[in-house]
Amino acid sequence: MKQNRPPLTAIPAEIRCAQDYEIVAEHFLAPDRHAYIAGGCGREITLAANRSAFDATRLWPRLLRELGRGHTAVDLFGRRLVHPILLAPLAYQTLAHVQGEIDVARGAAATDSGFVLSTLAGRTLEEVAPHAGEERWFQLYFQAERRHTLDLVKRAEAAAYRVLVVTLDTAIKLPSLRAQRAGFVMPEQVVAASLTDYPEPAPCVIERGQSRVFQGVMAQAPGWDDLDWLLSQTRLPVVVKGVLHPDDARQLQARGVAGIIVSNHGGRSLDGVPASLAALPAIRAAVGAGYPLLLDSGIRSGGDVFKALALGADAVLVGRLQIYALAVAGALGVAHMLRLLREELEVCMAQAGCATLADIGPAMIFKETEEE
Ligand code: FNR
Repeated sequence: MKQNRPPLTAIPAEIRCAQDYEIVAEHFLAPDRHAYIAGGCGREITLAANRSAFDATRLWPRLLRELGRGHTAVDLFGRRLVHPILLAPLAYQTLAHVQGEIDVARGAAATDSGFVLSTLAGRTLEEVAPHAGEERWFQLYFQAERRHTLDLVKRAEAAAYRVLVVTLDTAIKLPSLRAQRAGFVMPEQVVAASLTDYPEPAPCVIERGQSRVFQGVMAQAPGWDDLDWLLSQTRLPVVVKGVLHPDDARQLQARGVAGIIVSNHGGRSLDGVPASLAALPAIRAAVGAGYPLLLDSGIRSGGDVFKALALGADAVLVGRLQIYALAVAGALGVAHMLRLLREELEVCMAQAGCATLADIGPAMIFKETEEE
């Protein structure tokens, strides 16, 4: 089995922009681990669409605006974030670095970035909390038994995580074809550390003629009643991740969900769905102005952040870039990547004539058919 190359203790000179971490990380991650992280599901049509949607979106800058008092602050769930770039929840980051999520949390804290810890993190939520800044959120996967889900929620509250992010787009979790073809198998020492006290439920017995999908996995998948139950069990704001349809967005808003993350899981849950960026405007229209909307899937630069904000997001999350930066240079790499992204966003705002995030709206996007 090939091993990762040890991470550096300094930033490599060839990193000039946040996306460079994607290229350099290939030299640090063992090929099968890289395939697991980089891959998307199926034929990777959605994975590619996430990028092409950003690349096809054109900015429409304005001149001679007053920018001397510019900033990137955003208010979310009653708190002020210094900038709108958060780290998305990523499972098993000990695949990339022995410190795993501890280093990711330190990188986020050093750059005033929001950080979302996965239920499937390689380090426990209690181990990570002291290394994270104030803006630490916990991503929740419903467990097979409600008492385990509730225990996770109470543990997250006790460790001062501020927001619960409930991911609903991946009842079925399968390694991508790319990972399977590369021979990826989860190493024994890489575990979902926060879950070790919750024994796996006995696998369902599938009778002849029954389906492993419907009577197996989906028999235990959460429904609307589970979400309502969760909302009644916590005082934390609950945000739902994995929304692509405006009708789901409306329904979630009506049930008391505090905010939504428009996401297709970085092209890892259902191949053939639209890019998150393409789904965003209809969801913003459905929930109206003022309702917290975040977006992830495909963000690789500050210019991408700008485009997501222009099309209706209040903030964004970055997935793969964080684990690439972690693999290359640990906490330092994560902090550096976040600093680069924020600076890229600021440069983009300045060049486009936007002093604050409130100035970044649909009018900043050029439409080919637009008339003077
Ligand atoms: C993920 N993602 C994810 N999401 C989640 O809610 N819980 C999780 O445990 C994971 N785990 C995970 C592992 C890996 C290796 C990847 C690449 C992604 C999805 C993640 O939060 C986010 O939605 C995407 O990564 C965003 O797309 P980009 O930024 O990677 O293009």
